[in-house]
Amino acid sequence: MAQVIMSDVCKRYGDISIIEDLDLNVKDHEFMVLVGPSGCGKSTALRMVAGLEEISGGTIQIGERVVNSLPPKDRDIAMVFQNYALYPHMSVRENLEFGLRIRKMPPDQIELLVNEAAQMLGIDQLLDRKPKQLSGGQRQRVALGRAIVRKPAVFLFDEPLSNLDAKLRVQMRAEISKLHRRLKTTVIYVTHDQIEAMTMGNRIAVMKDGKLQQVGSPLDVYDRPENLFVANFIGTPPMNFFPATISNGKLVADKFVIPIPQSQRQATQGKEGEKIVVGIRPENIVDPGKQTRGETARITVDVEIVEPLGHEAVIHGRIGDDLLVATLDPHRAPQVGQSFELVMELDALHLFDVKTERRLVG
Ligand SMILES: Nc1ncnc2c1ncn2[C@@H]1O[C@H](COP(=O)(O)OP(=O)(O)OP(=O)(O)O)[C@@H](O)[C@H]1O
Ligand SMILES: [Mg+2]
Repeated sequence: MAQVIMSDVCKRYGDISIIEDLDLNVKDHEFMVLVGPSGCGKSTALRMVAGLEEISGGTIQIGERVVNSLPPKDRDIAMVFQNYALYPHMSVRENLEFGLRIRKMPPDQIELLVNEAAQMLGIDQLLDRKPKQLSGGQRQRVALGRAIVRKPAVFLFDEPLSNLDAKLRVQMRAEISKLHRRLKTTVIYVTHDQIEAMTMGNRIAVMKDGKLQQVGSPLDVYDRPENLFVANFIGTPPMNFFPATISNGKLVADKFVIPIPQSQRQATQGKEGEKIVVGIRPENIVDPGKQTRGETARITVDVEIVEPLGHEAVIHGRIGDDLLVATLDPHRAPQVGQSFELVMELDALHLFDVKTERRLVG
């Protein structure tokens, strides 16, 4: 069993609080992605699990042991960093062997593990090269290999793909996911890239300013963001937001009115006259020719920008003070300057309290 349990974990530097009361329960075999904007404390959290950073409060448990005072080498973890951290003067083989040698593993066993990992990662032809003779992607594979040969209870990844170009990143993303399915080792994976989070995680934990915002499966978080920050952070293009007032079963925005759908009646009950923030994802604003689900409302926008992406066109439209982004079929996209009718799928609305910024739930 190699679950990782963080309870009330805090990190302070002097008076400055970096992480506050972090509670995160990573299950055995789980791929947990820690995601959030730059500076929110992801690396700090990961480094505390690794033992590279002391904790200022709380407990961290790996498997059945509380590891608060255990040095990194005794925590049964392996970490992979963004910058690979390979030894430049050693060959690939020596880099892979190093961690096992210092643990005094018998040479024949080392060879077995290194060959197995090299094969798994497709670097078995590169074992005699030095890191500087490798491409970025190959170096990152070696760094992964060095973690794999150790057969740790937990892998800790800190933005391991961010030095790679976009195409290689997509490829390595899939490979790491495959590797996880094969090895079934518990993973905590840090990234600021919400697409990596969505595609790789069994669950994702969204952080902001040192505080956990929401933990759930990628679709859970996408479909039911608990607050405005998560709603805005997860999804590209991001969710649209506009202020509206609840009035007589309707949401009254600046220059348009939409009915409150049956599915949202409970969430808005007893809030007559209140101002709220309404969110809707770009894919839930569609062109009138498209088949829709559930209740809908029509709105007319002035088209300001059209971005054809091939598989879809991203339309930026305006109604009064509100800007709305919709993703449409590129073959049915309007022209810039056109006044264009769009359909909102109302069951896909997300409603948030203005003050607390929390999701309104029924
Ligand atoms: N030694 C330190 N002393 C004081 N503050 C620190 C120290 N190390 C990190 N911080 C601060 O802690 C906060 C969290 O840093 P951390 O590196 O964990 O962020 P991150 O989420 O990993 O960001 P990024 O996505 O940019 O890597 C930042 O505001 C940073 O400035
Ligand atoms: Mg970081």
